[in-house]
Parts: sequence; C-alpha cells; structure tokens
Amino acid sequence: TPEKELPRPGDVLVHADGPNAGQPVQLADIQPERALFAYPKGKASNGKEVLKNGVDRNQLIVAKFQPSELKAPTDVKATDQGVIVYSRQCMHLGCAVLIQPYTPANLKVAAVCPCHGGAYNLTAGAQVVGGPPPAPLAQLPIKVQGDQLVVDGFFLSLPYDISEPEFVSQKE
Ligand code: FES
Repeated sequence: TPEKELPRPGDVLVHADGPNAGQPVQLADIQPERALFAYPKGKASNGKEVLKNGVDRNQLIVAKFQPSELKAPTDVKATDQGVIVYSRQCMHLGCAVLIQPYTPANLKVAAVCPCHGGAYNLTAGAQVVGGPPPAPLAQLPIKVQGDQLVVDGFFLSLPYDISEPEFVSQKE
C-alpha cells in the first residue's frame, strides 16, 4: 500500500507525534541533543500525496548536532546543517529505538533499543555501541529547504524488513 512505500527524494518530513503531529518538521523544532520522531510525506507510486507511516522502517529519528560533531562513518554528504536522519527500526529484530543518554559509551544522546539493549551512536553513523544489533541504523539522506527537511535520496543501507515487495520494486 502507498503508506508502506519507502521515503523518496522530495518527500517532506512531518512530526510523528506531539502537538504538531502531521505538520512539517521545521529546522527550529530540532533541539541539539534532543532528537524527535518523524515520518516522510510525499508522492507515492500511485501519484497521490501520502503519509508513509504504514511500516516501522519509515519511523525516523531526526537529530541535530554541530556539523563538526558528526564523525566517520557518518555519511556527511547526506546531512545538512548538522541535521541527520535515521530509521528507528533496530537492525537486530526490528523494535523501534528510543532516544536517551547512554552512559556506558559516554553519550549524551543515543538511540537505544528497548527490546534487547541495542545502542547506536547517532554522531558516528549510528554505529552499534552496545547490545546485539549486527549493523548501524539506516541513514536517510536529507537536505534543508527553506526551514523544512526534504528527503534527498534513499536509505543508505538496507532497512530491516527487506523482504517487503515495495522495497524490492523501488530498488530496481
Ligand atoms: Fe533491538 Fe533486539 S530488537 S536489540
């Protein structure tokens, strides 16, 4: 269904929750070290505008750091003004990660999985810093246009549920 399609270039990120749910995320909404959650919204393959909230991999973390804080292996070309976006879908068994401090790795903010304790360093390409995940979270290329966040490519690594037909068709 259109709601399950992958983010495409040109989609706009909208708040996933809170008082502004469904409204475009604005640059000023993103506080340093306070990530927020978003979904992509844009044209689906049927040509209609749709909120792509029908699948876990499209729940997104939007975080903002000083550009100089973003370290390898972050794909900095896929960030803009220090804004970096990842799928929330844990690469272990697919739970939605949360944002919180992670003291074992001395991180003020990290993506931490409530299921088995997987932890990802958001400033270093979502590299795994704890628990069982075998791979980093999938980064989504982004650019700032006006004060909105616009998708600027496809996920840079495979989202968890790669067997979904929508994924296969969009990678062809
Ligand atoms: Fe995230 Fe297991 S599903 S650590």
